Amino acid sequence: MTAPDIVIDARDVTLSLGKDAAQVDILRGVSLSVAAGESVALLGPSGSGKSSLMAVLSGLERATGGSIRVAGADFGALDEDGLALARRGRIGIVLQAFHLLPTMTAIENVAVPLELEGADDAFARAEAELVAVGLGHRLTHYPAQLSGGEQQRVAIARAIAPRPALLFADEPTGNLDAANGAAIMDLLFARQQETGATLVMITHDIALSRRCDRIVTMRDGRIVEGSVENALAGIDA
Ligand SMILES: Nc1ncnc2c1ncn2[C@@H]1O[C@H](COP(=O)(O)OP(=O)(O)OP(=O)(O)O)[C@@H](O)[C@H]1O
Ligand SMILES: [Mg+2]
Repeated sequence: MTAPDIVIDARDVTLSLGKDAAQVDILRGVSLSVAAGESVALLGPSGSGKSSLMAVLSGLERATGGSIRVAGADFGALDEDGLALARRGRIGIVLQAFHLLPTMTAIENVAVPLELEGADDAFARAEAELVAVGLGHRLTHYPAQLSGGEQQRVAIARAIAPRPALLFADEPTGNLDAANGAAIMDLLFARQQETGATLVMITHDIALSRRCDRIVTMRDGRIVEGSVENALAGIDA
């Protein structure tokens, strides 16, 4: 039997900002390995470093120490342009606040990243993606003309359209009510499984985290062992 493909291989990652007395150690030696197709929930109290870990694992922020390999790319060996290229098409990101471009329609929001990759069928693919998230009837609506749940569907379509190996979601249901949040999560898991993407999802919702294959808990810039409830309450296992 061969080992499964490893999509994230992070070793002893540190992130410190500022200098001398003003230095803040945000990540204090995080090691994490995630296999292809796996779904991982990242849980932890506010300020524990979840979004910061996502930022370095997605190449948006450079770690100050340790090593990160994502989908075969060695982030430490890449310059800014190289990092941007490694991200493109390989990593999709869904954020709490949707972050759609307000001057573009739903289909344009999904198609433009595909065009940037050089796809010549960007609009056809964007339409298929929006149909897959149940928005075939909202192609030419602008974000302001869409509900919160609909905007998050567009954001999911945009993130998944390039068929990234890895999908990050940072509190994707944080701005939605319970019913809309549950529908968005069903959709996110369905699209993840249909496309075979690896999913790393930040959440404060324990019930939601249990739908993932694995739960990783963080506290004070580190990954901690023990029960999820204790980790969230800041109690040592
Ligand atoms: N640019 C920055 N400069 C200094 N400190 C920062 C910076 N960005 C984040 N931090 C600090 O790093 C710590 C981790 O922040 P991060 O946003 O990763 O937490 P989080 O676990 O995502 O929290 P939340 O659940 O509230 O979103 C926090 O203490 C935060 O104040
Ligand atoms: Mg956060």
